[in-house]
Amino acid sequence: MSNLLKYPGESSNDSLPPEAKAAAHSRRTFLFKLSVLLNAAVGTVLAVPLVGYLLGPAVKKDASVGAWVNLGRTDDFPVGETRLVDFLSPVNSLGDGETAKVACWVRRISEQRFQVFAVNCAHLGCPVRWFAESKLFMCPCHGGAYYQDGSRAAGPPERGLFEYHTKLDGEALLIHAGNMPTLATQASCKEKPLVQIAPAEAATRSTSWQA
Ligand code: FES
Repeated sequence: MSNLLKYPGESSNDSLPPEAKAAAHSRRTFLFKLSVLLNAAVGTVLAVPLVGYLLGPAVKKDASVGAWVNLGRTDDFPVGETRLVDFLSPVNSLGDGETAKVACWVRRISEQRFQVFAVNCAHLGCPVRWFAESKLFMCPCHGGAYYQDGSRAAGPPERGLFEYHTKLDGEALLIHAGNMPTLATQASCKEKPLVQIAPAEAATRSTSWQA
């Protein structure tokens, strides 16, 4: 084999018999193809979550906003009790893992009437806890308290707990979870109904109770 046909770093094997040269060549070819294959596999494994992270929100947003999520059978919620459940956020992305789970409090008022509250305090968002004995939701961060119907009882929160829209589908309890209940999005708040403000309008428009 001439020097021009040698692989980089290859020592001279001109003295080898033709069979040994062929074997060495096919071994190098095999190892080269194997390394290309492994690189391609590693590249694919790294690319899938990256592409999912970049494109996931754009692809899922339209389909997820306005989604109704099943919280379970109505039998799971005894009348007069308030229970903590979690559900998979419809706006989750590839790789969210456990963080895609969203907790909420479900209160069953009667056979057909439910209230579902966001678990986050309306002050700064700490998760509130339900105390059945006192029938209060309490926030551990700054002492915010809410009555069993989610309305504000005491502390720094300026309003009640955010509440999901609910509906029954046969034996299933559904909540409207596509839009998370925040001050900027629609959430049912009996005393001061929140108004959905489009981002473009937000700077020039006040909410109904501010007017
Ligand atoms: Fe709940 Fe401040 S976050 S009272």
